[in-house]
Amino acid sequence: MTETKILQQLERRLKTTLRFRHGQVLGSMCSEPDPLALRVIRRTWDLNAGDPGLSPALAELEREAVSWMGAFWKWPQAVGRMVGGGTEANILALWSARETRLSPKRTRVLASVSRHFSVDKAVRLLGLELLPVALDADGRLDPDKLEAAIDDRTLAIVASAGSTSLGLVDDLGALGRIAKRHGVYFHVDASFGGFVLPFLEEAGFDCPVFGLDLEGVSSVCLDPHKMGRGPIPSGCILWKDSRYPDAVSTEVGYLSGGLTRLTTLTGTRPGASVAAVWAVLNKLGRSGYVALVKEAMTLTLWLAEKLVNIEGIRLVRPPELNVLGFYHERISADALNSRLRQRGWALSLWPGFLRIVVMPHVRRDHLRRFLKCLEDEIQRG
Ligand SMILES: Cc1ncc(COP(=O)(O)O)c(C=O)c1O
Repeated sequence: MTETKILQQLERRLKTTLRFRHGQVLGSMCSEPDPLALRVIRRTWDLNAGDPGLSPALAELEREAVSWMGAFWKWPQAVGRMVGGGTEANILALWSARETRLSPKRTRVLASVSRHFSVDKAVRLLGLELLPVALDADGRLDPDKLEAAIDDRTLAIVASAGSTSLGLVDDLGALGRIAKRHGVYFHVDASFGGFVLPFLEEAGFDCPVFGLDLEGVSSVCLDPHKMGRGPIPSGCILWKDSRYPDAVSTEVGYLSGGLTRLTTLTGTRPGASVAAVWAVLNKLGRSGYVALVKEAMTLTLWLAEKLVNIEGIRLVRPPELNVLGFYHERISADALNSRLRQRGWALSLWPGFLRIVVMPHVRRDHLRRFLKCLEDEIQRG
């Protein structure tokens, strides 16, 4: 086939794809990257961050990006790597916990019933066991129940800072103290909230306790490709100290820079993602992210108010981050979701409710159109 024909076919086949820019993707935790990311990718698409000897400059950009993200999480000296996303980061965190454990008896991972499914994947891959812990009345991992479940088989605790379902933040302070008291590894999955929490207070909203500096916290992961305006794929893991990444790194002799220590699960890694995230961090800086979070949160609270004014609509919980769960008293979430999907809206369906994530690509006029459509569907009964 000629290139022209291939490109025509591609365009035709992707025609029905829901793109963020069209404003109907309301349930995704990813978004369009900052336009600068695309410009950087065009210049760096052939760089492999997995072979740092080829580009020590790229390795330096990665260290700087990691340090920015560490600073956002109050620990600029964090040792970290840019990875493919939250899944890879969660696997790496639990792998490093397993490799540094005090006894082989420690095989249990405690995580809330609302953990992301990548924690289950990590546990299975690593030959560990998962012990789900119930939520408290506010929908967060219950610290008392968690502590009661800890014994000499406990390896690690995983908490959420922005749960996938409702964007709720576990009590990281209390959980960190428990982890410290019992000498267990504590990983904070901030894949979603990692680029929201550090800016909430300055944006004028209540902010729960967070930080890699909190006692007992061993690692945190945050995804530039969610609220960080980075390209897909871009994730990051931050460890409090180097003994954890050291325990999972491999020395490779044949790469361009001679003996190289690699810490990521993947070998070849998109250098363009590293360069793009570095660029976006430098472009937006703290104040840029504060503005982004302010906009997302303002729109979330506006949407929450509009939703509860629609006959029969209830919120699952008041939103803590830019994530909203809602349901209709009589129409099932399943049915409502199908009907909205037929009208082009992509929401996220959960048991008993629908979820909207107010990402940077979601704008007020999109939401106005959505609310109108939702009202129509409810009136139809
Ligand atoms: C809390 C949380 N952890 C981990 C992940 C997995 O991230 P990824 O899809 O980037 O691997 C997600 C994805 O939505 C998430 O919400």
